[in-house]
Amino acid sequence: MSVILTDGDYKILKQSLKTTIGLDLSQYKQQQMQRRIRQWLDRTGVKTYKEYLKILESSEEERLKFTEYLTINTSQFYRDVSVFKEIEEKVLPDLLQRFRRLKIWSAGASIGAEIYTVAMILQELSPNTAHTLLGTDFDQSALVKAGAGVYGENLLNSLPSLYKNKYFTQENGSFKIDAGIKGKVRLKRHNLLEDSYEKGFHMILCRNVFIYFTPETQARLTKQFSESLVPGGIFVVGSAENLMAPETADLKRVSYCIYQKD
Ligand SMILES: C[S@@+](CC[C@H](N)C(=O)[O-])C[C@H]1O[C@@H](n2cnc3c(N)ncnc32)[C@H](O)[C@@H]1O
Repeated sequence: MSVILTDGDYKILKQSLKTTIGLDLSQYKQQQMQRRIRQWLDRTGVKTYKEYLKILESSEEERLKFTEYLTINTSQFYRDVSVFKEIEEKVLPDLLQRFRRLKIWSAGASIGAEIYTVAMILQELSPNTAHTLLGTDFDQSALVKAGAGVYGENLLNSLPSLYKNKYFTQENGSFKIDAGIKGKVRLKRHNLLEDSYEKGFHMILCRNVFIYFTPETQARLTKQFSESLVPGGIFVVGSAENLMAPETADLKRVSYCIYQKD
């Protein structure tokens, strides 16, 4: 039998999860989250959500597993080929011309595939400049994978062969990213909903993260991201994400998924 999770139960559960895992689920779309949590409860074999809360409170391992499941860390190198082609052929060359040394943030970086893609592109475009690259995520398990830099081949399916051949070595059927590329990226745990944002970025990528947030939270975070960009800086979202009123955050749409700060 399925675990019952009424709207009332979900409200109580959200409150508890704020303290146990540190995530404020009221800023995530309810239907989607509630459904995912119900599915997880069914999988764990508990009879009630209260029973599961007790397990969460007593087990760090369970908290990590649950957070990893909730935050959904699907990612890929060069994800959305047309968007990354534009970043590679237009956006980064233009930013390099205007600013020379770039500061770039992948917010919701997951396993690192996005920020390492940017690092490889920059290595080709401007190999002799020390750029600042930051990848942040709430989910510690994803950051551990990013730090290890070892991936299944399926995550490299969209990556042009130039990068795959030059910056990866095969090890026991997996692909290990070049230590030089890995060393260019700083990884940090960061909660987009609560922690303060660094400033002075020339490009911020926050892709396939907004889809999980309520429209109010999306609008609030868009303003915060905009404040973190230098004038003329670039904000990139996922291909299923459209900013609702970018102009209220001093952003204008310059292309599919790509916005520029005034
Ligand atoms: C679907 S992945 C996207 C990964 C990558 N940006 C991409 O597009 O391939 C979403 C990521 O957002 C992270 N995330 C969700 N809520 C977050 C929050 N409040 N703060 C920081 N990261 C969060 C998840 O942990 C997950 O790694």
